[in-house]
Amino acid sequence: MAYFFLIFLLPLAMASGAHLRPGYYLETCPKAEFIVRDVMKKALIREPRSLASVMRFQFHDCFVDGCDASMLLDDAPNMLGEKLALANINSLRSYEVIDEAKEAVEKACPGVVSCADILIMAARDAVALTGGPDWQVKLGRLDSLSANQELSNDIMPSPRSNASYLIDLFKKYDLSIKDLVALSGSHSIGQGRCFSIMFRLYNQSGTGKPDPEIEPKFREELNKLCPVNVDQNVTVDLDATPRIFDNQYFKDLVSGRGFLNSDQTLFTFEKTKPFVKKFSGDQKRFFEAFVEGMIKMGDLQSGKPGEIRRNCRVANRRPLEKLREY
Ligand code: HEM
Repeated sequence: MAYFFLIFLLPLAMASGAHLRPGYYLETCPKAEFIVRDVMKKALIREPRSLASVMRFQFHDCFVDGCDASMLLDDAPNMLGEKLALANINSLRSYEVIDEAKEAVEKACPGVVSCADILIMAARDAVALTGGPDWQVKLGRLDSLSANQELSNDIMPSPRSNASYLIDLFKKYDLSIKDLVALSGSHSIGQGRCFSIMFRLYNQSGTGKPDPEIEPKFREELNKLCPVNVDQNVTVDLDATPRIFDNQYFKDLVSGRGFLNSDQTLFTFEKTKPFVKKFSGDQKRFFEAFVEGMIKMGDLQSGKPGEIRRNCRVANRRPLEKLREY
């Protein structure tokens, strides 16, 4: 079943974002980008980690049927949302920051700016406000009419993934090996749960032993933070500077201090290693490659009909006859 989805549905998500462009709301809602950035600035003061959490949304939204805010929909009576999908449950957080941005934008220009675009602006702002690059985002996306939990389960990679699996997955979205490594650099900010590394610490690939790639001192630290009987929702920093968007993540990988298996594997695998090395020594190159990757990922579109949601958590109600048009 999973295979069927990957083969037949992924090309849909790869429909081009040719209609997207910078300045899309210049006439209809000129303040939209300022409003979103303002909300993100407030979020940074309230809870610095929430910026990482919001930035992660772009990945979890765009890989599942394109960047259409499907991920923001709550469960509905006849639809399971993506919030409870395997990679998202007990993990994605800070949905309220997007709600706040949407509310503020709706106040200024009701019914004009999509949640999908707000999410893309907010992800960019999260990077810029934590010390990373700033860039122009393309806008003009529509919000999906529904969510697809099953597709999210099939697609979103596990923290156990190795580089070879990730290369193949990203390739299905026209994202290169360089894009994969650069985008993984998003783990320069934020935290992960012990849950995501328990197997790595205590039973890598069923061996009953830890992942040998973890630098021994770092493993000791992780063992203390995530002992065998820990509450697995306890969180640990993803790199040594979790509030600053920089190339420390890549330096950590080079010294065997990657948090997730999917992080460290980028240094152990021959095809990804040269990029890790390059980015660890050259932050400017990392920033350039990251921006390129975010723009490419932001171009993913399903080509399905959409709308401008009034509330990012629920599809707009529409009369039955209107529904039939879709
Ligand atoms: C390459 C494959 C990827 C895998 C396997 C992966 C997996 C994960 C996992 C397991 C966590 C921790 C979740 C938890 O323990 O609750 C995490 C956190 C995070 N991921 Fe990824 N990720 C990947 C790529 C990306 C990309 C492309 C982005 C964004 C562009 C991203 C942004 C983030 C951020 C910012 C966090 C921290 C969130 C927070 O503090 O709330 N990840 N990722």
